[in-house]
Amino acid sequence: MNALGIETSCDETAAAVVVGAVGSDAARVASCVILSQDVHQVYKGVVPELASRAHLTALGPVVDRALSDAHLDLEDLDLIAVTEGPGLIGALLVGVSYAKGLALGTGRALVGVHHLEAHLFGTALDDPAAVPPFVGLIVSGGHSLLLDVPAWGSYRLLGETRDDAVGEAFDKVGSLLGLGYPGGPAVEKAAREGDPARFTFPRPMLNARQRPGDADYFDLSMSGLKTAVIHAVRASKDPAADTVHLARGFQDAVIEVLVTKTARAVESCGRSRVVLGGGVACNRALRDAMAAALQRHGATLHAPSPRLSTDNAAMIARAGIFHASEAGSGRALDAAARLPFPGLVRA
Ligand code: KG4
Ligand code: ZN
Repeated sequence: MNALGIETSCDETAAAVVVGAVGSDAARVASCVILSQDVHQVYKGVVPELASRAHLTALGPVVDRALSDAHLDLEDLDLIAVTEGPGLIGALLVGVSYAKGLALGTGRALVGVHHLEAHLFGTALDDPAAVPPFVGLIVSGGHSLLLDVPAWGSYRLLGETRDDAVGEAFDKVGSLLGLGYPGGPAVEKAAREGDPARFTFPRPMLNARQRPGDADYFDLSMSGLKTAVIHAVRASKDPAADTVHLARGFQDAVIEVLVTKTARAVESCGRSRVVLGGGVACNRALRDAMAAALQRHGATLHAPSPRLSTDNAAMIARAGIFHASEAGSGRALDAAARLPFPGLVRA
């Protein structure tokens, strides 16, 4: 089937066509259009109303472009999939309203997709081996989840952040170091020039005494680390010269926590694959450290290309194909800023 995906949960206006079949892991990205909204850079963060307005202006042309890149017309579509949540409510409403109008006008079936579940599907579009059973680590600007995934649609929550998401911590540290928004790519670039021995920050919620079953064994926390960076900046005699070293110290701390907790999950769930998703999955240092550590545990890392790590609509279309049996007229579809992850149970 030809599935059109629409994603407007934050500051990327995205549409994509994925060709696949219900019940099959074989799926092909026929087009993938992502328009990142620049306007937020001026404000060093996403301004919700501006995001909604930019989606309203851009979504029509972005959908048209996704169809033309795939050499398809609206009539060739079998399914429309749209992010229904979680995300910025005004931004989501633009995508959901557009998708409902499209479904009504074309008579095509419409299905709502959970943004975070879609991040898990995104990796498999690049890497056919990224299929269950696996341990999933979703690290984005809004969420950080460690999951055991025995099968698509069946998710066991092992751990999550108790405060800031990992991407959010990168963004806050990036802004603190004067590196602009979004902070993730800028912090990674700066960290490459940094001396790992100059600043050693705490590894939050990580210590050798933790045992399986402990409440903090898999959970994450970022706010104490962020505070430690703030104190180090204040104490620095030359913050400008220390920027790269601070970025390196921060990134090393985050990576050690993520790698250790993921390796724990691999051991405790007996999985041999780890699927990384979300914008932070773009981080090369994280991917390299994770791949090396997993190799020692007999597991492989599956991470998407940068295009499919950050928000995109191909992952929405792919998740929509999985949920195609739930598709319908879409008249009752709503947008939700907070939305339960379908099929998620606490481990
Ligand atoms: O998944 P995503 O595009 O949007 C959300 O659903 O939140 O993730 C965006 C997040 C931002 O916080 C951004 O700073 C972070 O991903 N990010 C990175 C890198 N590239 C993007 N974090 C660390 N290193 C990167 N190279
Ligand atoms: Zn995302």
